[in-house]
Amino acid sequence: MLIRTKIRYYFHIFAPVNSSKPAIMKEIRILDKTFREMISEEALNKRIEELAGQINNDLAGKDVVFLGILNGAFLFAADLFRKVELQARISFIKLASYEGTSSSGSIKELIGWNEDIKNKTVVVVEDIVDTGNTLERVFGELVIRKASEIRIATMLYKPAAYKKDIHLEYVGFEIPNDFVVGYGLDYNGFGRNLPSVYTLIK
Ligand code: IMP
Ligand code: MG
Repeated sequence: MLIRTKIRYYFHIFAPVNSSKPAIMKEIRILDKTFREMISEEALNKRIEELAGQINNDLAGKDVVFLGILNGAFLFAADLFRKVELQARISFIKLASYEGTSSSGSIKELIGWNEDIKNKTVVVVEDIVDTGNTLERVFGELVIRKASEIRIATMLYKPAAYKKDIHLEYVGFEIPNDFVVGYGLDYNGFGRNLPSVYTLIK
């Protein structure tokens, strides 16, 4: 039997009839879920420009490595790095989950280290900081690898879900503790290529 998986983004533009200047709400469907646009492409771009400006000021003259966390941060890392005017490097790592043999469940391993970050200023680039577990894992590894300074840049941040003490220097947008997709973030692997951020509505 041929099973075809079809992913379609259905864009619906809703414009209330009784208003001369209607709010335009874009909705999309991914698999079984519906999402509504929350942060537009324009707003993301504007904010990235501001964050890059801060980074340019703060880190001028330092030996800087940007460290993107795959997969989610690939778009933000590219867009941010393009606007950074420092002479800096960029590298990417990934958290690989595999099922452990013990009953403790899945173990996360950081793979892809190919940049020597000893004595360097590292800017960790994340798509979203939720509980902070990922960040804590990366941060710990950077300490072991003797980075001289660690700064965190994240496009999105869910303060209500965050459980750690690591300070986030460069935050694009604080958002409610809801599930979002787009701009690198996925729902079951899909939605990463959406240019704006969408929040789950049903
Ligand atoms: P953490 O809970 O801070 O460790 O976040 C772990 C990872 O979960 C993030 O880097 C994202 O890849 C993913 N994640 C967290 N919140 C969302 C969301 O709302 N949508 C899609 N992915 C998310
Ligand atoms: Mg991520």
